[in-house]
Amino acid sequence: MDRRDFIKKSSLGAALGLIAPSLLLESCRKSSMQMNSFSQVKVIDGLFNTPLPIPSPVNASSISSLTAQRATTSIIKNKSTSVYGCHNGILGPFIKVNNGDAVSISFANSLSEETNVHWHGLLVPQNMDGHPDNVIQSGGSYQYNFVVNQRAGLYWYHPHPNMKTARQAYMGLAGFFIVNDAEEAALNLPSGDAEIPIVIQDKRFHPDYSLNYSPNMMDVMNGFFGQYIVVNGVFSPTKDISTKWYRLRVLNGSTARVYNLALSNGANFYVIGSDAGLLSTAESTSSILLAPGERIDLLVDFTSYGIGTEIYLQSNSFSGATIQGDDSFKILKFAVTQSSSDSFTPPTTLSAITPIPVSQAVNTRTWTLGGMNMGGNMSGGNSGGMMGGSGNMNMQMLHTINGKTYQSNEILATVSAGTTEIWEIDNSNNDEIHPMHIHGVQFQILSRTGGRNVLVASEKGWKDTVLLMPREKVRLIMTFPQHSGKFLLHCHNLEHEDSGMMVNFEIK
Ligand code: C2O
Ligand code: CU
Ligand code: CU
Repeated sequence: MDRRDFIKKSSLGAALGLIAPSLLLESCRKSSMQMNSFSQVKVIDGLFNTPLPIPSPVNASSISSLTAQRATTSIIKNKSTSVYGCHNGILGPFIKVNNGDAVSISFANSLSEETNVHWHGLLVPQNMDGHPDNVIQSGGSYQYNFVVNQRAGLYWYHPHPNMKTARQAYMGLAGFFIVNDAEEAALNLPSGDAEIPIVIQDKRFHPDYSLNYSPNMMDVMNGFFGQYIVVNGVFSPTKDISTKWYRLRVLNGSTARVYNLALSNGANFYVIGSDAGLLSTAESTSSILLAPGERIDLLVDFTSYGIGTEIYLQSNSFSGATIQGDDSFKILKFAVTQSSSDSFTPPTTLSAITPIPVSQAVNTRTWTLGGMNMGGNMSGGNSGGMMGGSGNMNMQMLHTINGKTYQSNEILATVSAGTTEIWEIDNSNNDEIHPMHIHGVQFQILSRTGGRNVLVASEKGWKDTVLLMPREKVRLIMTFPQHSGKFLLHCHNLEHEDSGMMVNFEIK
């Protein structure tokens, strides 16, 4: 199916084809002026009485096969929902390796559609990266073999077929992939039951509790927001804890929703790591944004709470975003049920983050993000802008990178293995949120100008995904590894990705 077919067959296509142009014009005008209310999906608050499932990490050496398949699970208590997963239920196994380990997994596709596996954040050869060129047909299989060669961190895996990533990840194809190393182990961070993996996703349901993934045109523009916040596959979860320190390893596995993580009592916590492992020092904060695709490593001190205390991990409202950020809602309840005498003091030094010298860069490239431009711009009040002169909707209104939407055979940049480049990602003409992700390489963020104008705590280490709020521009620096071939730069708002906000670059 090419992109034009996709547009015809998708709900967007339906919108383009079936809705009278005048109505569409009206809805677009409305959206550009009332972005907030138009796109906001109100989060449903739960009872927080479903025990949080905690997946136990399995050594990669004991996982020889993975199967993508349909499964039935209970996301909302006592309701059954059909999902996708890589074992008996939603999501996939929590895979654990030590740096240096070999991974050898035979992946089988038991779905009725093509899929594949992308190891998000892992530096693997091109033919192991789950590029949309390398999909596995229904009934087929593929051998994923690679050696892990990177620092400890919380990575993850999810499908990456062109124009199908969002729905497949939403249906449940995603899993944690954790890398451990000696440097991290020496810190004696909270572990065992005190290290909690958390993947946050948001879902919509049909009245029969089947998953609803049906983005309309506005959802493609803004992202598909769910009303039910789901953690580790369940809605409205609770976790019993003891009076001790906990390490929360949090992944935003939502297609589009950004969370502003905070504790309901306003207490500070420490940010100790982000996408690609530990920061150099722990930073104390009372809230932090986590965009789709990003991970964050947090230390929370529960030592001084009395038995019976209930504290929520929640998302606070945030400003600077025209589309989302209005809502505050609870995500996960921590119920203090036991006292503990475990003692722990957060280390002052975590890891050595050596900045890549700017002088090492052999090239600077700019990637300009565009969206919803029909010859005008989206900024408030310019109601005519979106429709441009002709009044015809076309692809230009979707999201672009350097003016392009994804073409599998088009390579927009060629870089040399082993060299360092500065990439500027420029969202300064946009009022939308774009979490941008790069395959095949890890980067450091040099600066952010416009919008928030600062780097937040989690951005002072190694990253693979960076959040661009409206009007922001970031400068990234990266050294490309010795893996040749086509890799991707794309928006991790998966509705944006699937509508073409993705480009190939090649490492030579
Ligand atoms: Cu997690 Cu190309 O994505
Ligand atoms: Cu990735
Ligand atoms: Cu985007």
